[in-house]
Formats: sequence, structure tokens, C-alpha cells
Amino acid sequence: MLTVFYDCYTVLSKVYSEGAYLKQALTETPVEEKNRPLISKTCYGVLDNDAALSYFLSRLSAKNPKAAVRTVLKIAMYHIRYLHKRPYAVIDNAVELVKKLGKGGVSGYVNAVLRRFSEREIPLPEDPFERLCVQYSFPPFAVRRLIGEYGKERAEKIMAAKGGDSTLVFYDGDGEGYLSALRADYAKTPFENTFIVKNFLRNGDYDKGVYTFQNVGSAAICAAVEGGERLLDACAAPGGKSVSLSRKFREVVACELHEHRAGLIAAYAERMRRENIEIVVTDSAKPEKRFFGAVDAVLCDVPCSGFGVAFENPDIKRNKDENALKELVFLQRAILQNCARYVKEGGALYYSTCSFFGEENSDNVEDFLKNNPEFELCAADSPLEHETKKCGLQFLPDTAGGGFFFAKMRKKRLP
Ligand SMILES: C[S@@+](CC[C@H](N)C(=O)[O-])C[C@H]1O[C@@H](n2cnc3c(N)ncnc32)[C@H](O)[C@@H]1O
Repeated sequence: MLTVFYDCYTVLSKVYSEGAYLKQALTETPVEEKNRPLISKTCYGVLDNDAALSYFLSRLSAKNPKAAVRTVLKIAMYHIRYLHKRPYAVIDNAVELVKKLGKGGVSGYVNAVLRRFSEREIPLPEDPFERLCVQYSFPPFAVRRLIGEYGKERAEKIMAAKGGDSTLVFYDGDGEGYLSALRADYAKTPFENTFIVKNFLRNGDYDKGVYTFQNVGSAAICAAVEGGERLLDACAAPGGKSVSLSRKFREVVACELHEHRAGLIAAYAERMRRENIEIVVTDSAKPEKRFFGAVDAVLCDVPCSGFGVAFENPDIKRNKDENALKELVFLQRAILQNCARYVKEGGALYYSTCSFFGEENSDNVEDFLKNNPEFELCAADSPLEHETKKCGLQFLPDTAGGGFFFAKMRKKRLP
């Protein structure tokens, strides 16, 4: 167990002290393969509950320990409170770890803090707003917005929603037969050959393109896009929607700002054996003349706060603030405005995010329509549970497996 704690410490130090993203830190840190599931669960769990763990620590210790000691304490507290591990073994490991890190001088302090933590349940804050921020480790600005938009009760359900199950999509063949043969615990979704599977471990068939993973909300967005000749996907990496939609369009132009991320689209398309995808490294907020009026449909799956899938990516809850949100809204509007000129008369313009904040979603579409009367909003529907907003559909994490937004517009034909 000391090795597991040490590896978790190494990964989390990269996140806390060097600003790395968790996924990247986990990939880059060599760990014993047999320990990887527990290391991954611990690191995700610590970050997902970061504000709560900081709060517990503040109740137990008058002094604020240095970064390395804080990280060790958070790992141990997570094991005690959330994984229900035997406290004495956890405390021993935490003490051994600080010694191994050359900080034997604080071993008595670590021992005392963790003993106090294991002996009594620290109550959450009494103030209802503070309680929500701590219990779900959501930043106050996000909690305020969620309550403002969805009410207190729904906001709590949204924050409490957890991922965990995988959604598998089979492009060809009998997905249900495949999963039955594996004796997998699966449920059908409203989408073709798309299943939610419990405790699914990726196998070699993934690399052969037998199936792929796609959040059910993303599958809902792809299902709502009407097929045609040529689609431009303005923000395409890692390629989930481009690759899926390449089955509905004769040709897909997959645009991406970052070259290294464009490589992910190429790898995805190759794995799923799709050959009708042209990858273009470009800034979709800036005009590319060759695309003016040249495509039947544009999908703007814009960079967003990502709060709708924060349960999969807990960095979001720590890294995003109000200013970051404002900057994103500015970029989202610029991408939508620019890419609208690529749509042919009569063509479709789709806008989507993995967020549940109105200002990244319906507000952006409403603003766009106000400034671009040559576009009109189209009625959209989905078999996946959603709320209908003024300008689009909102999927929410507690009922739809993630917080996604989708809007469909059409460029009017000139009389
Ligand atoms: C939400 S992700 C897209 C997910 C993708 N559509 C899928 O389904 O797999 C947004 C992507 O937009 C890219 N991006 C950010 N700014 C961009 C810009 N100005 N132009 C083009 N792509 C951009 C990001 O690098 C990121 O890969």
C-alpha cells in the first residue's frame, strides 16, 4: 500500500504543484500496472473531493501544512472517508510516506491529524450554500449559477451525479450479441447499437474498431444531426463526433486548432476505419475563404467550461473560474459567428457544448440569431431526457449521463 500512496503522491504533486492535468499526470507517471486501477481511483477521488478534503483539514489543523504534506493528508483522508479503508493501516502508510519523502519531522503531526479525522465525523458547514460548495467540491461561482438556473434541489442532483458506467457504440455488427457473449451488464440506450455497460474493461477489440466509447449525450447530439453531403466540424478533436458523423455525410472536414490534438482525430478515424475525413489544423474563429458557403452543415462543438462532464474530469472544478467562463463565451461566439459563413443557403448550423450554463449555451445561440437574421432556429428533439431551453436542448447529468447542450439552426434560402 505504501507504493500505491507514493505513486498517488507523485501523480497528485504534478497536478497540485506543477499545474498538470490529471489525465496527463496519470499517463506520464510510471506505476505498477496491477496498482493502476486503485491509483487512478484515488487520484480522481482526491481531486473530485478536493474542496471537501481541504475543508476537513482546516477543521483539524490550525496551521496550513506545506503542499507535500497536504497532498499526503488528502490521499489518506480520501481512503478513510470515501473508500472506507481501515484507518490504522492508512495512518501507518501516510506516516511512512512522509518519512520516505524526507519529512520525518512532521510524522507526529500527520499521525495526530489523521487520528482525529478517523475518530469523529466532521460535520459539513451549516450554511446551505457553503454546504453545497464543500460537499460536492464545486466552486462557489458554479453553485450560484446552477441554483440560479435550475433551483436548489435540481442543482444538488446535478452536482451529485456521478459517471462510472461506459457507453459503447458499435458502428457495425450486433452490439447486443457481442455484449451478451461477454456476459456484460448492459442497458440499451435510445440510440442505434449504443449501450451503457457497467464495469466494462477495454479489451483488444477496441483497437480493432469493433466498438468505441462515446458519452450518451454526445451520441444524442450526433443522432440529432441530419445527414448530407459535406459537414465541417469546427472543433473536432479528439474526433468522436467527426468520426461518428462521417457515417451520415459523404465527406467530413474536421478542423482543430492544435496540431497534436489533430493527431487524435487521425488515430480515431484510422481505428474506426473511416476514410472520408479531411483533417485541417486551423483556428475556427478566423475565416478560411475556401470554406465560405461551401458546406451543407457546420457543427460548432465549441471549447467550453466542461462542467457537464466534471465527474469525468475533476480538474474542471479546481481550474475554472468566472473569468475563464467569460473568455470561453467570447471564443464560443467568435467561432459560431465565423463558421456560420461556411454554411450554404438552406444548410444547417449546429451548436453544442458539454456545459449546463445558459451563458455558454442558449444565450450564445440567442445572441447569434439576433445578429444574424439570415439564420433561423429549428425545432430539435431527442429521445434522451432533456429540458427545452429558449434556443436548444439541455441534457443534464442526473438524467442524461452528462450535461450537454444542442441547438440546430438553418440558413434561410434567399427568395
Ligand atoms: C469540446 S472539444 C471538441 C470535442 C469533439 N467535437 C468530439 O466530439 O470529440 C473542443 C475542441 O476545440 C479545440 N479548439 C479550441 N479552440 C479552437 C479554435 N479556435 N479553433 C478550432 N478548434 C479549437 C480544442 O482544442 C478541442 O479539441
